[in-house]
Amino acid sequence: MPLSSIAHAVDLTTLNTLGLVCQAEQLMDLYDLSQLPKVTEYVRGGMQVVVLGGGSNVVLPARISRLVVRVQLKGITLALARPDAWVIDVAAGENWHDFVASAMTQGWDGLENLALIPGSVGAAPVQNIGAYGVELDSRIESVTAWHIPEGRMVTFKREDCGFNYRDSMFKRAGLGHWLIVSVRFCLPRPWRAVLGYPDLVRHPGLAGTAMEEVNARQIFDAVCEIRRTKLPDPAVLGNAGSFFKNPVIPASQFETLKQHFAGIVAYPQADQSVKLAAGWLIEQCGWKGRRIGQVGVHTRQALVLVNYGQATAVELLALAQSIRQSVEEKFGVELEIEPVQVPA
Ligand code: EPU
Repeated sequence: MPLSSIAHAVDLTTLNTLGLVCQAEQLMDLYDLSQLPKVTEYVRGGMQVVVLGGGSNVVLPARISRLVVRVQLKGITLALARPDAWVIDVAAGENWHDFVASAMTQGWDGLENLALIPGSVGAAPVQNIGAYGVELDSRIESVTAWHIPEGRMVTFKREDCGFNYRDSMFKRAGLGHWLIVSVRFCLPRPWRAVLGYPDLVRHPGLAGTAMEEVNARQIFDAVCEIRRTKLPDPAVLGNAGSFFKNPVIPASQFETLKQHFAGIVAYPQADQSVKLAAGWLIEQCGWKGRRIGQVGVHTRQALVLVNYGQATAVELLALAQSIRQSVEEKFGVELEIEPVQVPA
């Protein structure tokens, strides 16, 4: 098939980690930057576009009439070995976890807390992935992206990416605007372990070791084990990780909630607001482990919704809506869906 050609009636069920039944009317695999002007041409001709990476943070409809562009750009290059940092360029189509593992093998430490997060490198900045005390934006120097409607390439410095908790300006711009082609990482030297997260410090692989003796491999292994214990493997049980963001509320609202719900799990933020553990709120509403038809709430982590079989987005979103309603009624807190919802 020539570059830039479009495949028709492509089944995306195995190309999204939720495993939602989905067919794309048109799909283009993007292997090379030279194909990008063609994408812009299609858009100018009236076609709408949606960019697909690893498919691990999307809720896909049963049928997509938009052109789906699947990013397959590959390549990992050490751009600079500065005394104060490793600077690494990575193409958007690289698998996130494989990159983290291979970086560590090269001695480029600093991403180990983010091990085993499903998805692609290009998708990672869109939702500013984060886990076990590290948010991706703290490891990014710049992001290079193609503006699809205008047909131009732009490199954004980290401070211009509008990063926030599970958010970025790429996400806010909406579907079909930016196609991330590569990410430049900056991993500070000397490396320092990030061990603030309670689950990590308690892990048997780390608990007995003095902080100065812990290495990146130990953290990587501990994070992988914790994730494997708590989170379902999408290859076995369809899911998109956390389905809701942890809600952030004003301190005054938190004080009132605490009077009614003494066990509420919360993390005070630097700006005096309070982030609540959505998993706790959902569990308290009795949803943990519940199944409705082909969809359900994971048995070990209430923040994760799962697909037991041939579910569609409609079924999954109906469950999400019921959960949001329960949490709103019981706690007066609004939950926001975390993955990107792709319209038909
Ligand atoms: N909790 C419950 N019941 C549950 C789940 C959690 O009570 O069913 C309470 C527990 O007290 C637990 C606390 O909530 O200690 C926090 O849970 P956990 O440590 O599992 O983290 P989380 O807040 O549920 C966030 C991220 C995860 C990330 C972990 C670890 C969000 C939306 N989720 O989850 O990210 O792996 O912290 O850093 O911020 C993802 O975004 O897809 C994701 C998996």
